[in-house]
Amino acid sequence: MSNMRILRALTVIVFAARAGFSAHAATEPLMKAVVLREYGGPEVLKLEEVPRPEPKDDEVLVRVIAASVNPVDAYARQGMLSKRGLDKRPEIIGYDIAGVVEKTGARVTKFKAGDAVYAYLSIMRGGGYAQFAIAKEGEMSLKPKNIDFEKAAAVPLAATTAWQALIDTAKIDKGQTVLIHGGSGGVGSFAVQIAKAQGAKVIATASSANQDLLKQLGVDQPIDYTTTKFQDVVKYVDVVLNCVRADTLPASYGIVKKGGMIVSITGDPEPAECDKRGIRCSGVMAHPDANVLEELTRLIEANKVTPIVSQTFPLAEAARAQQQIETRHTRGKIVLRVAPEPKS
Ligand SMILES: NC(=O)c1ccc[n+]([C@@H]2O[C@H](COP(=O)([O-])OP(=O)(O)OC[C@H]3O[C@@H](n4cnc5c(N)ncnc54)[C@H](OP(=O)(O)O)[C@@H]3O)[C@@H](O)[C@H]2O)c1
Repeated sequence: MSNMRILRALTVIVFAARAGFSAHAATEPLMKAVVLREYGGPEVLKLEEVPRPEPKDDEVLVRVIAASVNPVDAYARQGMLSKRGLDKRPEIIGYDIAGVVEKTGARVTKFKAGDAVYAYLSIMRGGGYAQFAIAKEGEMSLKPKNIDFEKAAAVPLAATTAWQALIDTAKIDKGQTVLIHGGSGGVGSFAVQIAKAQGAKVIATASSANQDLLKQLGVDQPIDYTTTKFQDVVKYVDVVLNCVRADTLPASYGIVKKGGMIVSITGDPEPAECDKRGIRCSGVMAHPDANVLEELTRLIEANKVTPIVSQTFPLAEAARAQQQIETRHTRGKIVLRVAPEPKS
């Protein structure tokens, strides 16, 4: 073995031991990834070379082309998820990927090498800010054919959250009226389109700068929350979906029809307030679901849902991307470009 190769192997073993990546993985091929070694500000996110993961029997190794950035990524970076028992430092965060299947475990039946896919990775595992990531069959679907990998990466977590809130929880129906607080953000921009595709009338709030986006998405009644209180202009909706801080909830109880529902993805509505008014309420915690992703693939291929990507950063600039998501004023989605679009 040449000196250079010995040095490289030693570096990988030392790195793996220091980082907590398994030592025997040091013999595996390497990949670039944004690694979290300590909790803190965006500056703790560092691009490094680490061992490439190897899929277990029930796992799929995906060559990542693009990954998206969600508010939960910043919570993970700050260590907020560890308080819920998820402390597994060091780790690679990122829960949304689009890419190409590189390799499948022995028990994987739905996917094969070369398939173009997208996935919502378990919060327990993450791994999206990397050139390769592990996904399970229950977290992934074939990528919609009519959009590129960058747009596809924007979909899984945010659109699944919108689906699980509006379709699985509130069970919205044709002809109903839905108010979406925060219609221009990652979840909100999908929620507006899913509600429209379901045949609902959609009212949505955003700042002045995003009124054009609300109209572009098909919102029937856009509201500029910087100039207008929603409770002054909205009465008797069937469903409220809250995608912004929970301080929109107190004024929301009074504008829902008896028998209607408030769903919130940012904090649970108050059951006593809902009971008093004869409305239902629920907090929603999204989770990966391949069936939902397949439904979303159908809506996207039918041009009923189009991901809105407002900013793209190279993988090496994940810290800048997280600074943007922490503003809480992102328009649509932010994506990390990991590799060039493959030639089809
Ligand atoms: N429970 C779950 O499973 C789950 C899943 C995903 C996300 N979440 C949470 O849901 C929230 C939204 O996620 P996201 O990915 O959509 O975030 P995001 O992409 O950062 O979107 C934030 C959006 O909220 C709008 N906004 C901010 N303040 C507002 C206000 N007072 N009224 C109306 N709109 C307002 C912003 O529009 P302007 O710039 O125009 O103000 C922006 O477009 C985050 O807190 C996230 O952690 C929860």
